[in-house]
Amino acid sequence: MNKTVIGVLASGRGSNLQAIVDAIEAGRLNAKIGAVISDNPEANVLKRMAAADIPALCIDRRQFVSRHEFEAAVAEELNIRHVELVVLAGFMRILTAYFIDRFAGKIMNIHPALLPAFPGENAQQQAVDYGAKVSGCTVHFVDEGMDTGPIILQEAVPVLEDDTAETLSDRILHAEHILYPRALALYCEGRLKVEGRRVRIT
Ligand code: GRF
Repeated sequence: MNKTVIGVLASGRGSNLQAIVDAIEAGRLNAKIGAVISDNPEANVLKRMAAADIPALCIDRRQFVSRHEFEAAVAEELNIRHVELVVLAGFMRILTAYFIDRFAGKIMNIHPALLPAFPGENAQQQAVDYGAKVSGCTVHFVDEGMDTGPIILQEAVPVLEDDTAETLSDRILHAEHILYPRALALYCEGRLKVEGRRVRIT
């Protein structure tokens, strides 16, 4: 079966991208990384990819006058590299309808909570502050809302009595590193069927 070409957008540390790279190398994910793009020149993900010899580039948001021009540059780069699936891995920008329409149904994200609980930023802090006993992570398709797209996979993670946002984040991150490659593998195997809000795994 042909490898699906994925393009990863990341702004920071890049540990989820590393888990994806590892899954590809281990033969658990039939994909090829066609592009890694960071919007932030300082992002650790760029150093991580340089060390792994994976081509990565920065498209610096500050070099563009508008979001539209920035997104057009990202989309062009993805198209040049024949990207079939856009993977958001700690990408800290909200994408506009323009970009989402260009890759309709072909953008995935991972969020560190069990959506629809605790969307947006600082989801782990939100879970601790709320007193939730269980949180987790969610892989979903991206639509125009904030973390509202159809849910692909979720994994529950307990919130412990003395958790801080940091300790909970570490525990959730461990689950993320397993969940994201699994969701991507299902996509690459053509096993995800979106019916309205529901994603069926065939
Ligand atoms: C993860 O917690 C992910 O759920 C969220 O951003 C963080 C990215 O971490 N969207 P990393 O850059 O993959 O290490």
